[in-house]
Amino acid sequence: MNVPRPAPIEPAQVDPATLAAFGQLVRDRLGLEIGKSRDQLARKLWSTALDAGLAEAEPSSWVAVLGRASPLSRGWAAIADVVPNHETSFFRDVEQLQRAVESVPPGPGAARLLSVGCSSGEEVFSLVMLLHGRLEALWGRRAEVWGLDVSPAALARARKGWFPLGAVERAGAGPEAWQTRFLRPSGEGFVLREHVRERARFHEANLALPASLAVLGQFDVVLCRNVLIHFEPEAAKRAVNSLRTLVKPGGSLVLGAAEAPLLGALR
Ligand SMILES: C[S@@+](CC[C@H](N)C(=O)[O-])C[C@H]1O[C@@H](n2cnc3c(N)ncnc32)[C@H](O)[C@@H]1O
Repeated sequence: MNVPRPAPIEPAQVDPATLAAFGQLVRDRLGLEIGKSRDQLARKLWSTALDAGLAEAEPSSWVAVLGRASPLSRGWAAIADVVPNHETSFFRDVEQLQRAVESVPPGPGAARLLSVGCSSGEEVFSLVMLLHGRLEALWGRRAEVWGLDVSPAALARARKGWFPLGAVERAGAGPEAWQTRFLRPSGEGFVLREHVRERARFHEANLALPASLAVLGQFDVVLCRNVLIHFEPEAAKRAVNSLRTLVKPGGSLVLGAAEAPLLGALR
């Protein structure tokens, strides 16, 4: 049974100092710049407080409690689930994905690709579908595509591998007959077939905390698209430097079109 969410408080009920402190907390913790809209900030703070189980307390105490929360707490997860923009789609900017797949260098062992800020997994599954057949045909290699995100809720959706019909309607141009070769109908949507899901792996980590990324090892291609445009500029530069350490020698780092100038950022 769905429990209705209580009505949000009016933005005017949250004092400017609380909103500013929330914006700073999100910047420090995730590297994200939430923007200047007072209403949007108040709505995100309200949803975060609700998900963190704080809604009964005074708004002025929320940020202090969230600020003391440990990385494993409900408060931390609530910030990661509620605050970022999680918009994504299958085969988004597909020419760039295609070029990334074609750039995988030949070599021994499994070809490894990583999508940083993978949201609910569409980018990861798109890469698996684009890779399908190509690596075995060329070099007899196996492929593994990892997705990394800070949001536990987005990753839970990705691991399920189930998507509503609208996700197919919004998709970019995929490989020929991808909908029948790689998906099967399930309820009001579809699931990825087993041979696609078995190549996808997901990992929770925070791009603003380099130590949380290192456990995955290095990759032939690291993609980070439509993530750093939401970052505060200095945090974005630090993130690019962390991402560079995840790329194998001879591999490549791919940012979204609007983020590419960051590749020239100081190391
Ligand atoms: C707009 S989506 C982009 C999804 C996909 N890369 C694409 O281009 O379609 C941005 C994702 O980045 C994730 N994200 C934001 N800040 C992050 C951080 N500090 N560490 C890891 N992931 C983060 C968000 O949770 C969100 O799912």
